[in-house]
Amino acid sequence: MNNEHDLELILNSQVPLIVVETHDEPPMLELLKRVSLSRNAADYQPVFRWTITDGLQRMELALQDDTEELDPEQVLRHIRRTQQTGIYVLLDFHPYLKDPVNIRLLKDICIDFPQAKRHVVLLSHQLELPPELEAFGARFHIALPNERQRNEIIREVASEWREAKGKTVSADPRALELLVTNLAGLTESDTRRLARNAIFNDGAITRSDLEGVMAAKYELLNRGGVLGFEYETHRFSDVAGLSRLKAWLEQRKPAFLGEAQAAGLDVPRGVLLIGVQGCGKSLTAKATAGVYGVPLLRLDFGTLYNKYHGESERNLRESLKTAEVMAPCVLWIDEIEKGLSTGHDSTGTTRRVLGTFLTWLAEKNSPVFVVATANDISALPPELVRKGRFDELFFVDLPDSDVRMAIFEVHLRFRGHDPAAFDLARLEAAADGFSGAEIEQGIVSALYAAHAKREPLSTAHILRELERTQPLSVVMAETVHALRSWADGRTVPGH
Ligand SMILES: Nc1ncnc2c1ncn2[C@@H]1O[C@H](COP(=O)(O)OP(=O)(O)OP(=O)(O)O)[C@@H](O)[C@H]1O
Ligand SMILES: [Mg+2]
Repeated sequence: MNNEHDLELILNSQVPLIVVETHDEPPMLELLKRVSLSRNAADYQPVFRWTITDGLQRMELALQDDTEELDPEQVLRHIRRTQQTGIYVLLDFHPYLKDPVNIRLLKDICIDFPQAKRHVVLLSHQLELPPELEAFGARFHIALPNERQRNEIIREVASEWREAKGKTVSADPRALELLVTNLAGLTESDTRRLARNAIFNDGAITRSDLEGVMAAKYELLNRGGVLGFEYETHRFSDVAGLSRLKAWLEQRKPAFLGEAQAAGLDVPRGVLLIGVQGCGKSLTAKATAGVYGVPLLRLDFGTLYNKYHGESERNLRESLKTAEVMAPCVLWIDEIEKGLSTGHDSTGTTRRVLGTFLTWLAEKNSPVFVVATANDISALPPELVRKGRFDELFFVDLPDSDVRMAIFEVHLRFRGHDPAAFDLARLEAAADGFSGAEIEQGIVSALYAAHAKREPLSTAHILRELERTQPLSVVMAETVHALRSWADGRTVPGH
């Protein structure tokens, strides 16, 4: 990036009105100062800043008593009247652009530009130029710090700490490298702030800082969006069975993390997990982020439609962009068929949202790994399961006897019980047709029952609870059967 050079080009191109949209004012004001002071005498333009609270002040030089308290209209009249060349930065002027008098005054200033070179810079967090002024304006975007500059910022923060504490910052080289990568996509001030958070707590840059950095980064990026940051992730050891799915995911980890570029492997795009309720789809999505060691973001289509009625597509695009800035990350879309089912859509919104999503999925090349889950195939748009959309479609079926045994083990251990103390063979046989969630529920209920009787948890307690349960595979036998025959030939078994 070269902000100085780009700004210089705009100033020299004789555009009278410059629009800058940013939440980060100070670096932009600094940039304007620097560019002004670096110009030679013939091109020199003083810089003035105006705010509704402070009025108009000279900015690049500290002159005293040069403040003029002017309201929005007066400041424009002042600029129009003066013949002095200059750069006039109007901060937060956007509310006053609704006034026809102000629009006309700005237009007069622009029309007079060839006679009197007065640049007006409109600096706001968000600014729509009225159509009357569009022909006179150009937008300037402050480039975000690149890798070298982020490295530089971290070094500056580290030396700040050294000066304050009289000790050097210790940095794990790999953690430093990841910190530089993970701070991508933020403004200079935000980059500095997060680097400060990471360093000032303990004077060290370690892997343990990264989680906090990513959570804070998400807060900065997702102002009012539909992405959720999931703090809870899992490991593959928490997921019983699904060994093919887990091996497939493991195999793609190096390519996803950019460690296999030399081998010419494509960056994996993602998987769709289809299957019976309560058999570990959502759990695997969470475990993928844990195993890849990256943040887990959850995209919620329900909120997308409810909260942003009429603006769903734009908000989806923005959320997907946020996910790309957070990359590498896992983007989890739970029950995707609920958000993208086009069955009852009279307005075409869902169809457009689906189109936006599929285009993004096909074209993306940043490491955002999508894990989508679905359990209702009747609502699943056929476009989504067509070959080449996702890297693979996995079917997550009810657990077989080995997997049921493993599920008992995981959940007994999870609650502080030694699985060896239980008759796992009897338990898994009694749980034939049960989902993982139902097995877990059986253990939980048995714990309550045992506690009520002041007895230690035993095989018998669990067996009693299992007997009382009608598993979903029985209650919804037809649905499960339909799901299986649909999956046959279309999907790969996850177990
Ligand atoms: N294979 C498994 N290994 C360990 N625990 C499991 C497994 N399957 C299910 N469970 C337990 O059941 C809970 C519910 O499973 P999960 O939410 O992943 O199901 P799902 O497939 O996403 O179901 P749904 O289609 O209803 O969303 C999990 O949090 C976990 O505790
Ligand atoms: Mg689920």
